[in-house]
Amino acid sequence: MLLHSLKKEKQNLQANNLIIENFSESHLDEVFSIESNSNPTPWKIDTFKQVLEVRTMSFVIKDENKIIAFCIASKALDECHLQNISVIDGFRNQGLGTYVIEVLIGRAKIFGLKVIFLEVRESNKVAISFYKKLNFKEVGRREGYYKKDSGRESALLMSLALS
Ligand SMILES: CC(C)(COP(=O)(O)OP(=O)(O)OC[C@H]1O[C@@H](n2cnc3c(N)ncnc32)[C@H](O)[C@@H]1OP(=O)(O)O)[C@@H](O)C(=O)NCCC(=O)NCCS
Repeated sequence: MLLHSLKKEKQNLQANNLIIENFSESHLDEVFSIESNSNPTPWKIDTFKQVLEVRTMSFVIKDENKIIAFCIASKALDECHLQNISVIDGFRNQGLGTYVIEVLIGRAKIFGLKVIFLEVRESNKVAISFYKKLNFKEVGRREGYYKKDSGRESALLMSLALS
């Protein structure tokens, strides 16, 4: 499984001329800028910095030298928590987000993880349909989990079992 996942990751990268790099300090400014353009209540740069302080499964995808997508994920016991994902405008709806999740799944399997879970704003219909297409199932709801411009909104809790 490990070899298969690594081989698949490499083949996809070669086919598309993309580069995957583990998330590091050198990516902070660019990732923060993407986040600021993608999220109604963006993460603060310090939140991304905190990600770097703990064991992380996070990575970015580059086309040439430019970051076109990022994935922030952590692991605890046999679970992977997908905390943030974004594809830059202009590259959306072309399969890149799906590829990001495939890479994450491959890596989670290498670590022997059994499940990926995530929270998504219930108003983020695009992301919900994206996760459903990828076979994530809705497994719960967290009331008032997210801030919005005024007030709060709930999160759907979704998970994908890894076999
Ligand atoms: C969610 C996101 C990562 C999806 O990435 P993407 O590269 O556009 O996704 P893909 O091209 O791989 O799309 C896969 C599936 O997702 C769904 N999808 C993607 N964009 C969609 C849209 N605009 N409307 C409805 N469904 C959509 C479709 O089911 C699509 O399958 P199809 O191509 O067979 O129709 C991207 O839209 C994004 O970065 N959004 C802003 C940040 C965000 O909301 N992150 C999620 C936080 S929880």
